[in-house]
Amino acid sequence: MLGKSVVRLLGRTGASRLSLLEDFGPRYYSSGSLSARDDARDARAYFTTPIFYVNAAPHIGHLYSALLADALSRHRRLRGPSTAATRFSTGTDEHGLKIQQAAATAGLAPTELCDRVSKHFQQLFQEAGISCTDFIRTTEARHRVAVQHFWGVLKSRGLLYKGVYEGWYCASDECFLPEAKVTRQLGPLGDSFPVSLESGHPVSWTKEENYIFRLSQFREPLQRWLRGNPQAITPEPFHHVVLQWLDEELPDLSVSRRSSHLHWGIPVPGDDSQTIYVWLDALVNYLTVIGYPNAEFKSWWPATSHIIGKDILKFHAIYWPAFLLGAGMSPPQRICVHSHWTVCGQKMSKSLGNVVDPRTCLNRYTVDGFRYFLLRQGVPNWDCDYYDEKVVKLLNSELADALGGLLNRCTAKTINPSETYPAFCTTCFPSEPGLVGPSVRAQAEDYALVSSVATLPKQVADHYDNFQIYKALEAVSSCVRQTNGFVQRHAPWKLNWESPVDAPWLGTVLHVALECLRVFGTLLQPVTPSLADKLLSRLGVSASERNLGELYFLPRFYGHPCPFEGRRLGPETGLLFPRLDPSRTWLVKAHRT
Ligand code: MSP
Repeated sequence: MLGKSVVRLLGRTGASRLSLLEDFGPRYYSSGSLSARDDARDARAYFTTPIFYVNAAPHIGHLYSALLADALSRHRRLRGPSTAATRFSTGTDEHGLKIQQAAATAGLAPTELCDRVSKHFQQLFQEAGISCTDFIRTTEARHRVAVQHFWGVLKSRGLLYKGVYEGWYCASDECFLPEAKVTRQLGPLGDSFPVSLESGHPVSWTKEENYIFRLSQFREPLQRWLRGNPQAITPEPFHHVVLQWLDEELPDLSVSRRSSHLHWGIPVPGDDSQTIYVWLDALVNYLTVIGYPNAEFKSWWPATSHIIGKDILKFHAIYWPAFLLGAGMSPPQRICVHSHWTVCGQKMSKSLGNVVDPRTCLNRYTVDGFRYFLLRQGVPNWDCDYYDEKVVKLLNSELADALGGLLNRCTAKTINPSETYPAFCTTCFPSEPGLVGPSVRAQAEDYALVSSVATLPKQVADHYDNFQIYKALEAVSSCVRQTNGFVQRHAPWKLNWESPVDAPWLGTVLHVALECLRVFGTLLQPVTPSLADKLLSRLGVSASERNLGELYFLPRFYGHPCPFEGRRLGPETGLLFPRLDPSRTWLVKAHRT
């Protein structure tokens, strides 16, 4: 039966459309200059990952979502004390039909399944160095309080009414689907069954009396919000897609299910016969974490960047802002959307048995290696394909050979016997290019290198601001290559410390290369924290000298003193990143809970 999804009204209560819109007036839509109050708020930043379903063990796609948010928040914290007020939350989404059914299939009580799988996520994130400030579980009491309060606000503002929802529901995606989004798929026995066009997951016909949210009233406010804030959803194609969705009719949304059908969730306040829709429950986690409904949450909201995968864009860019506007609050500041990881060209799925276990990858490639791979190769705008050979090739070439090799070349005892940061000679490398003289050794390409590395921190920051972390890493990697070219060009191993002619230039070559390495190490901290620490420690850079705010590259070139000149290098602690053996690559096998 492929019928039409309809919402029939049983009765409308509460505020008129006009009064609702007046309440959250134009202040949310202006994209003009920031007031002093906004400036103060701007110093705060709150990053979130989606909260993860606990029906199955984590895979590399989940880790990728978390890593993006982790790198953004680490980068933000490194920018200095004025931006130190950073929060970063992640967690698990534990209610709903999907989890209820998964627990029943596994023969477990839902709490047992939730505890078990939530722990997997927590362990994975700890191992992967996810520096979250909060891990929320939707089964916690603080969350129930927040959700029920939020519900009460929507109700008191006349945005919820009772109606009959009749249409398709997809338990795997926990969403209602219009007729046009449903198709039929052939089963193994030749029988056909209805599935979601987008996800391919089975859907079932549902007809029940629920609470309905007046989503249709928010079409224009959402359009105004997005048109007034062109950066609200990034990358831009996703912003565009949401505006296109809003060109179409926006039907009201069922926000509860009959408790007899869905008992695993938060009951509707004052009506135990209904359970709150899991997406409304889940989205409120972003408020629970910052203390909602206590007033403290206001100092963090809406300075929020939600990091999400493209499959959950509609929930975050339409439902969530509409719920917030309905509750008299601002939409989130930014929604950063990423695409998906496929495996050898195929969608990752339990049924295909090609799910890549992130813990296996962290063990094989090291935590920093695998973090680097996912963030360097993952491109938000389009899907990326995973296979082991790609990881080995990238890590060997960029971390082991290029970066590790560069460090080794400049710190090895054979070339740097005093194990110090040598002095920079301004006569060999004058700040003005094109000067000629007997002691001038710097060439045009060397000035190009200095200019590239000097502008790198700003470039990297811009890429972080634009949610293009892979571009930040690409820029660092390109400068590493340039620095290797510089060392190769001047072949310091052919210069002699004993020669009064060679020595100042030899010191200068090493000084410049070490300065470049210091910049690379500092900029890599958000992505490869341990490797960056190893690199900076080897250079003798102390913990208080690693902030982005105080990252002055090659000060001697610009006529300033250099605090590192003459300083002893840190102890030698082995290879920065040992090469991986390419003959030992295999495709990581399926992982099951
Ligand atoms: N529970 C909801 C989110 C609620 S947020 C209020 C959910 N959970 S999920 O576990 O299915 O997905 C969590 C995140 O993992 C989403 O951002 C999703 O896009 C991401 N990924 C799931 N599969 C992925 C890939 N194959 N590749 C990259 N990310 C993927 O949705």
